[in-house]
Amino acid sequence: MKLKEQINHLIQDAFVKAGIDEKPISVTEATQPQFGDYQFNGAMALAKKLGMNPRQIAQELAGHIELGGIITKTQIAGPGFINLWLNPSWIATACEAAFHDTRLGISKNENPLKVVVDYSGPNMAKQMHVGHLRSTIIGDTLANLLEFLGDEVIRQNHIGDWGTQFGMLIAYLEETGNEGSAQLCDLEQFYKEAKARFDADEAFANKAREYVVKIQSGDQHCLNLWQKFIDSSLGHCEEVYGKLCVKLTREDVKAESFYNEDLPQVIEDLLAQGLLKESDGAQCVFLEGEEIPVIVQKGGGGYLYATTDLAALRYRANVLGAKRICYVVDARQGEHFKQVFQVAKTSHFVPEDVKLEHVAFGTMMDRSGKPFKTRDGGTVKLIDLLEEAVVRAKESIKNKEGMSLEEIDELAKIIGIGAVKYADLSINRESNYIFDWDKMLSLEGNTSLYMQYAYARIQSIFRRFGGEIEANIQISDELEHRLSVMLLRFEEVLLKAAQDAAPNQITTYLYELVGLFMRFYEQNPILKEDVSKELQMSRLALSALVARTIKEGLEILGIEVVNKI
Ligand code: ARG
Repeated sequence: MKLKEQINHLIQDAFVKAGIDEKPISVTEATQPQFGDYQFNGAMALAKKLGMNPRQIAQELAGHIELGGIITKTQIAGPGFINLWLNPSWIATACEAAFHDTRLGISKNENPLKVVVDYSGPNMAKQMHVGHLRSTIIGDTLANLLEFLGDEVIRQNHIGDWGTQFGMLIAYLEETGNEGSAQLCDLEQFYKEAKARFDADEAFANKAREYVVKIQSGDQHCLNLWQKFIDSSLGHCEEVYGKLCVKLTREDVKAESFYNEDLPQVIEDLLAQGLLKESDGAQCVFLEGEEIPVIVQKGGGGYLYATTDLAALRYRANVLGAKRICYVVDARQGEHFKQVFQVAKTSHFVPEDVKLEHVAFGTMMDRSGKPFKTRDGGTVKLIDLLEEAVVRAKESIKNKEGMSLEEIDELAKIIGIGAVKYADLSINRESNYIFDWDKMLSLEGNTSLYMQYAYARIQSIFRRFGGEIEANIQISDELEHRLSVMLLRFEEVLLKAAQDAAPNQITTYLYELVGLFMRFYEQNPILKEDVSKELQMSRLALSALVARTIKEGLEILGIEVVNKI
């Protein structure tokens, strides 16, 4: 559909007809219904450039805009705005086409882009905590969105499975034997105990260090123990992914350790290009304009987080063939990614045309604006948080009549998990995010429950109607006009959200759409006796489009809908 694009073409044609050899800026959605549907605001700047009167230029251009197809009326306002009204019969036909298309008229990218989305990335020695929630949710949405638009998405879970802490954990596992293995189900506790041993006992600490060397040199016994940790830890993450309806699988895991063998080559290649300098025994890359260098190898020969990321970048660009690589990682790692990207480009590890993006997000805060912690100041485990969401959702389901216990449990899951995800996705990702149970489970405002409720309400209209809906749309008033135009905007909203990696653009859209639908539904009766059959069918078709748009939008966000609430 790409509504805006089509209008832009008409403006471009008007430019050509008016003999203006410039590229027009894009039209924008009208800020008020009395200004029409879209506005062209480029006449003022154009007039300045050409030394002409802005209203005169606007008049001239408006005179050349083709009427009768998409646009039915133009009007000059203020200093030279051109307001544009869309043609109701054109809108109706476009909506009917969307109705008959399983993809709601949204085309698939004709030149699919290979995109790597790096997200979740939990650290294996510990339980997943709320910090990984945001990455997991935002990353999965971005992957779903790009996939829906037709790109070839490769999900990558860059788990932290390597580092000196594993020496300590294995030493402790060895010491505690079978008992220790049994405890692995509570990694957090196991880690705490191992750390306590490490801090208190020098002999244990030395043993832990020996194990680090042994794992790194490929000692099979140690590697087996290490593998046991990783399996158990990943199993825990998968439980969380399952609860969250996130699509990550084992196949998507490319752990830090996967790149171990490539690390010496990374250093060698940087050296060969003359990019390395020794500083305090460490190998560093000094980037132009940066005071602090990127350390890629420690004095003792060990590698760093940045070295692994350079190897991963090479793999993604050259082996996987990605043209866009998105890192959905905490904003606090901004400097790290800036440097790693710069080194990768300077060294030509990654071809010039590959787009590297840090999709940064802010910190999760509690209602008083402090970083999110348990009552005793510990980190909140993700699994506990999700379980609480379901319990709270269950309490919030008021009308349980006619539902079995199983149905209530199922509904509570869908509502509770949806609420947690939607609340996170609906804010500008770069802002810090205030976690607020009451707000996210509310039926009013921009929440998942509001969307799910609207969807269920439309389904109940269909149940009462009971017949087959045919798309025979007629726009009978201002509200229907606005609702239809809003429906047709879905594709451009998705495209922009994909470009900006901004899920909140989708939620903002859904909120506006559902708000309009609620008003339409209040004012325009559908099933009442005095509504003509034609109008009834048209309104049912519009409602069906609204429901399908909500469903598709929520599906991209990884949130389910239900037919009854
Ligand atoms: N494990 C890291 C963390 O918890 C996130 C990994 C992000 N991805 C990457 N390629 N660096 O902070």
